[in-house]
Amino acid sequence: MIGDLSALLAKYDVAVPRYTSYPAVPHWRDVPDAQTWLAALDDAITPPSSSLAVYVHLPFCETLCTFCGCNTVITRNHDRSEPYVDVVLAELDIYRQGVGRLRERAVSQLHLGGGTPTFLPPAALQKLLSGLSERLPNRSAEYEGSVEVDPRVTTAEHLETMRSHGLTRISLGVQDFDSEVLRMVNRPQPLELTSRLCETARAAGYESINFDLIYGLPAQTPATMARLADQVIELRPDRLAAYSFARVPWIKSAQRKFKDEDVPAAEAKRALYEVLRGRLLAAGYEEIGMDHFALPHDSLARAARQGTLHRNFMGYTDRRTTALLGLGVSAISETPSCYHQNEKVITVYERRVAAGEIPTLRGHLLSSDDRHRADRIRTLMTRGSVAVAPGDFTGAEHALAELIADGIVDVSINELTVTPESKPFLRNVASLFDAYLRQPAHDGPTYSKAI
Ligand SMILES: C[S@@+](CC[C@H](N)C(=O)[O-])C[C@H]1O[C@@H](n2cnc3c(N)ncnc32)[C@H](O)[C@@H]1O
Ligand code: SF4
Repeated sequence: MIGDLSALLAKYDVAVPRYTSYPAVPHWRDVPDAQTWLAALDDAITPPSSSLAVYVHLPFCETLCTFCGCNTVITRNHDRSEPYVDVVLAELDIYRQGVGRLRERAVSQLHLGGGTPTFLPPAALQKLLSGLSERLPNRSAEYEGSVEVDPRVTTAEHLETMRSHGLTRISLGVQDFDSEVLRMVNRPQPLELTSRLCETARAAGYESINFDLIYGLPAQTPATMARLADQVIELRPDRLAAYSFARVPWIKSAQRKFKDEDVPAAEAKRALYEVLRGRLLAAGYEEIGMDHFALPHDSLARAARQGTLHRNFMGYTDRRTTALLGLGVSAISETPSCYHQNEKVITVYERRVAAGEIPTLRGHLLSSDDRHRADRIRTLMTRGSVAVAPGDFTGAEHALAELIADGIVDVSINELTVTPESKPFLRNVASLFDAYLRQPAHDGPTYSKAI
């Protein structure tokens, strides 16, 4: 039996990674040279059965939402779009030269993220999407193309352009519908705008609509969350993400506008999620992982039921790919043996690509211990239980004993399970497997809070 929930929420509201990778980015130690990184990529896509996902980071936004934790470039100058697309395609050309078999490898997933991909005028998106498919012409049978859009800048022409290039999934940044919450975070976005864009997307043939919501924002209350849930249910997206507001004011200075007392924490924050969760479950949505919901027909819900849910840098996904190639400023790539991130400063990224270089900022070569722990963490985050071996908790015995005493985990001889009421603590449980957190490597705050 889990202990007193409100005491536990306060106790475990500590800084831990979100585990979209293990080790988490602040613990990456290496800057792989180009040869090492290209060899890792080549290795990952060598087996004919391997699958390749491509992520393109499009960083531009017209205005800054003050909660935002993404890598963005705030500008109203849309003329920056086409030159940026040229650099992204040039970056892909560098990879095609360095890894010959990339040209023939089938792409199973393409995701445009940001920033705001639909900041790009339709002509620039057209140039990007045709440039990508000329350079990577093969698509696997299960190919899926998806995009993140900001409803405030997205037109029917954008949707048609992307649909004509095979994109079928669209994710709308919603965050909240409450005008006071949206005012506090500098994101005016009337519900009617989102509702109209859903209709246009469905009419244009998009098969799946996702909403991004955030809980834990200033001015959110259980009453505003109940209203938000009802409004979302009315629009019936196929899936939605309800992200815990990741507060990292030491990295994102705009978040310093919120005082501690403006922002719900621990029990009050979790209560917001629970209001949303209760109404979504009652309306037929299924809870996936720690922060997603999907209707039963949706492939994410099917993957969760079949035990094939996966988690990578893009968050929860319904498919496992062997290699994720990230293009664009700050983009992250992943292979079984190496992580890689591009330069985060756009001018430096552009200059290095123009010089014919892979614009590496940092990376990490995974040891066999890293791979073992990464696999444990991924399984736990996607299934809520994981097989364990002797040695998995060396150095974390005390933390494990506390989690057991608090009723958050059950451990049998070779299996660790998060108890049904303990989903809020999934990140804390995953941190049991994190050997880097136990090293005194970093100073100052690094991660957002777990709850
Ligand atoms: C790239 S944005 C989505 C597309 C578009 N830029 C928009 O906002 O409509 C990705 C998502 O990350 C989430 N997000 C951004 N900053 C966050 C933070 N600090 N904490 C939690 N979620 C955050 C938001 O839900 C946002 O929709
Ligand atoms: S939430 Fe989206 S639109 Fe707002 S600043 Fe971040 S990336 Fe840009």
